Amino acid sequence: MEGLEIVWLSKDFARVWADELLRIKNLIPTPPWTKDILLNDSWADGKYGKGKWERSWVALLNEQIVGLTLCWEKPAEEGTLYTTNSLYIQSMAVDTPWQRKGVGWQMVARVLDDARERGLLYLNTPNPMLVTTQTNSADWNQGVINFYIKCGFRIIGATEIHDRTDVVLAQTV
Ligand SMILES: CC(C)(COP(=O)(O)OP(=O)(O)OC[C@H]1O[C@@H](n2cnc3c(N)ncnc32)[C@H](O)[C@@H]1OP(=O)(O)O)[C@@H](O)C(=O)NCCC(=O)NCCS
Repeated sequence: MEGLEIVWLSKDFARVWADELLRIKNLIPTPPWTKDILLNDSWADGKYGKGKWERSWVALLNEQIVGLTLCWEKPAEEGTLYTTNSLYIQSMAVDTPWQRKGVGWQMVARVLDDARERGLLYLNTPNPMLVTTQTNSADWNQGVINFYIKCGFRIIGATEIHDRTDVVLAQTV
């Protein structure tokens, strides 16, 4: 798409544009985020969120924010489908008028390129390296699952989270 740029999401950028980023992030049908959640650096005593401000991206169309993806380095967790460390796509959202125009696909391409180029910065990981994500398995979310599959992910299993079941998707870079 002409005029589309995928740029690195720094914490300073997120602070300045928090309201707009949250409006787009909260298009995802999960409990809405607050500014504090958006701007946190990590949680669970630093276990989650590593590298968030180095691995996340914003889509700008003629300098207007039209999408974002928040990613971080996820450690392997015994007893889960996350059997190795991975670069984890925690959220991916494109503003409504700009959906189905390739913006999401371009953001995923940037995440994959970044993973290929830099590997993981904080977690010691053997090659090959995985990029992972998870999303609601419900019928109404099949469009999102289809999106990830079109972007090269495959479903590696399902996991219970709170009151729902998510599919976990992964691809090797
Ligand atoms: C899911 C989302 C990020 C996809 O971004 P997008 O920019 O609209 O997707 P793209 O245009 O890059 O789609 C690439 C391909 O994925 C598939 N795809 C994307 N959205 C789809 C949908 N709703 N239904 C079926 N297939 C879909 C298509 O094959 C599409 O190619 P095509 O349009 O040429 O057929 C976006 O729709 C969105 O933000 N949705 C609301 C928030 C959300 O639920 N996010 C996901 C949870 S983390």
